[in-house]
Amino acid sequence: MTGRLGTPGFRVGPLVGALAVLAALAVGTPPVRADFVGHGAPVRDVAISPDGRYAATAGFDDLAILWSVESRDQLTRLYGHEAGVNAVAFLPPLSEGLRPRLVTVSDDGTARIWDGATGTQLHVLTGHTKKVVAVAVSPDGTQIATASWDRTVRLWDAETGATVSVLEGHTNSVNDLVFTPDGSRIVSAGYDGDIRAWPLDGGEAYRFAQVGFPINALAISGDGKILVTGSADKTVRVWDMATRDMLREMSDPHDGAVLTVAVSREGMSIASGGVGGTLLIWDGGAEPRIAMQVEHYRAVWALEFSPSGDRIYAAGIDSVVRAWRTSDGASIVGEATRFQPLERVSRALANSDDPVERGSFQFRKCAICHALEEGGPSRSGPSLAGLFGRRAGSYPGYDFSDALHGSEIVWTEETVDLLFDIGPDKMFPGTKMPIQRLTDPGDRRDLVEFLKQATD
Ligand code: HEC
Repeated sequence: MTGRLGTPGFRVGPLVGALAVLAALAVGTPPVRADFVGHGAPVRDVAISPDGRYAATAGFDDLAILWSVESRDQLTRLYGHEAGVNAVAFLPPLSEGLRPRLVTVSDDGTARIWDGATGTQLHVLTGHTKKVVAVAVSPDGTQIATASWDRTVRLWDAETGATVSVLEGHTNSVNDLVFTPDGSRIVSAGYDGDIRAWPLDGGEAYRFAQVGFPINALAISGDGKILVTGSADKTVRVWDMATRDMLREMSDPHDGAVLTVAVSREGMSIASGGVGGTLLIWDGGAEPRIAMQVEHYRAVWALEFSPSGDRIYAAGIDSVVRAWRTSDGASIVGEATRFQPLERVSRALANSDDPVERGSFQFRKCAICHALEEGGPSRSGPSLAGLFGRRAGSYPGYDFSDALHGSEIVWTEETVDLLFDIGPDKMFPGTKMPIQRLTDPGDRRDLVEFLKQATD
């Protein structure tokens, strides 16, 4: 846009804004939301596109979503992963003017490349032998790096999805990785406490540093000068990329493990998130400049600055992704969304005289994956509405695995009891449902009593 167009736009801005509000009132348009509301389960990751226009989120509901940052509307929902999605990153669009492509990684052991315009899955990247927990894209957009609990980092061609190389050296799960902004190296870290650097010009890989405790998260500044780590020893550390010296160490700011870190593009601000739902923003000083208790989050799992550094986005146990101004920690203007409660159940119910109440206590383990009502929030498992009397694997609109799809089994008190007596893996070999049993027949009876009432 030229300066001539920009200047008058700035001057008439408030008037245009006022007219837009009037127009919205006139046609009854709902106010813009402050938050990203669409996942039906906790959100593991949030990413912002380099141009600041798009957000992408990855959730426990096996789903990734592409959003408009401006309107907070869902643009594309990416269906295909067979387990929770752990991380998401942006790739350049297929052609100019289109929405970006995305790459996601999942507990299902795959990475997937998606067309953000249509939601089509372009490539499924297979090779990791355990869950894949982090993903990064090279600065030129041509390569993808993934980190897995199989102890490897894999490098892939972003165009074809083909494996370029497998980087071996970590002695335990790899938890996070970044590309250096000049594209010369990948830096990874994991449970073994090692920070490792992998030159991409064929040079020898090396240990950058050893922290001595499992590292959960890594971030690098846009100028490539500083690296930030968050670790299980409750510490945020800042490293000099050139000398490998530790520059700063912030100990126990979260009263527990540090789960995620972010650094603004110019490296001026560092953000950290941890157990207990705290979000801290640091500038140069020894104390955080902003300390926020993120409402209702019991853990902050992902943080991301906007490209200009004026906003911070956070994801966690709540299914809603929220944003704040980094200058003062204020909410982004709009209509804030109430916390989406997971069915939270008091322990007292476990000892109730009423089997339905006791059963609701048993159901707390299921609620993260199953809604009880028709058309309930999307979760990784099907809604259990109308369960009794229907054939297994027949709930409309849900993509069952082959283990359940077309099954002859009908859900009754006896078959639901059997499901948790012998376990889903025995009753439906190959099912997506996690291995779990309720070994106490009384607990199973209570669960069935609760389900009979709650799904009717
Ligand atoms: C981590 C997620 C997860 C948890 C926890 C979980 N489930 Fe599931 N459940 C699933 C998935 C995924 C499926 C679909 C399985 C498939 O297609 O192979 C499923 C399927 C089912 C089905 C079959 C539904 C149908 O329409 O055929 C029932 C019944 C069920 N779950 C009940 C439960 C109950 C009760 C609990 C708690 C004791 C529970 N699940 C816990 C993910 C979960």
